[in-house]
Amino acid sequence: MKVYASLLACDLLNVEAEIHALEEAGVDGLHIDIMDGRFVPNIAFGPDFVRHVCRVTKLPVSVHLMVREPSSLIGMVTCCGVESVAVHYEIDESLPAVLDMIKCAGAGVGLALNPSTEVSKIESYVEELDLVVVMGVEPGFGGQTMDYGVLHKIDSLKQIGGGLLVAIDGGINDNTVGLVKQKEADILMVGSYLFSGYSESKLDSLREKIKILCGGA
Ligand code: DX5
Ligand code: ZN
Repeated sequence: MKVYASLLACDLLNVEAEIHALEEAGVDGLHIDIMDGRFVPNIAFGPDFVRHVCRVTKLPVSVHLMVREPSSLIGMVTCCGVESVAVHYEIDESLPAVLDMIKCAGAGVGLALNPSTEVSKIESYVEELDLVVVMGVEPGFGGQTMDYGVLHKIDSLKQIGGGLLVAIDGGINDNTVGLVKQKEADILMVGSYLFSGYSESKLDSLREKIKILCGGA
C-alpha cells in the first residue's frame, strides 16, 4: 500500500519545504486537488501550481480534478509530467472523450467516484482506466470524517484486476486506516492526518505517520 500526500493540507506558505520533508520521510507520491468552486463549493490550485510542484520533486504526482468541465485543464496538467490525472464520473462533459484526452496526453487515466456513485456505473469504462479513486468523503474539503459505507467499492474494484489501481481519498487517519488496509487499496491519498498535530519534529512525525499508515495502525 502506497501513501500519497494531499498537498491541500500542507503549509501553503512553505510548499517546497513541505515537499522536501515528505520526500525525506518516505512518502510514495504527491496528490494535488484542483477545485473549480462549481463541481465542489471550494477553490484550490491550478495548472501553474502543478507545474511548480513537478519542478521541485521527482515524486510521482497524481492530480485530482474536482471540476465540472475538466477538458480545458487536461493539456495544461499533463504537460507537467504528472503520473496520473483523475476526473470525476459525475462531470458535465462526455466522460469517454475526457478519458481519451488524458490517455492521449500520456498520463495515467484516473476516475474518481463520489461517495454516492456505485462501481456498477463505471463498468463500461474500466478498460480505459489505470486508477480509480474512491472518495471516502464528499469532495471539496480536507479534514472530513470517512464514510465507511464506501469501502465495499474497493472489494468490487480489486476484483476487476488487470493492473487497475484502486486509491482511496479522504478521511484516512490512524483510526480509519486499519479498515482500508483490510480492503487492500493500492494507494492512500492522505491530507490532514499527515500535516496536523506534530508532537515531535516535523520529519519524525511524518515518518511515524507514514509508518502507521503502511503498517495499518
Ligand atoms: C477532498 C480531497 C482530498 C483531501 C483529503 O476533496 O480530494 O484529497 O485533501 O484530505 P483528508 O485526508 O484531510 O480527508
Ligand atoms: Zn483528492
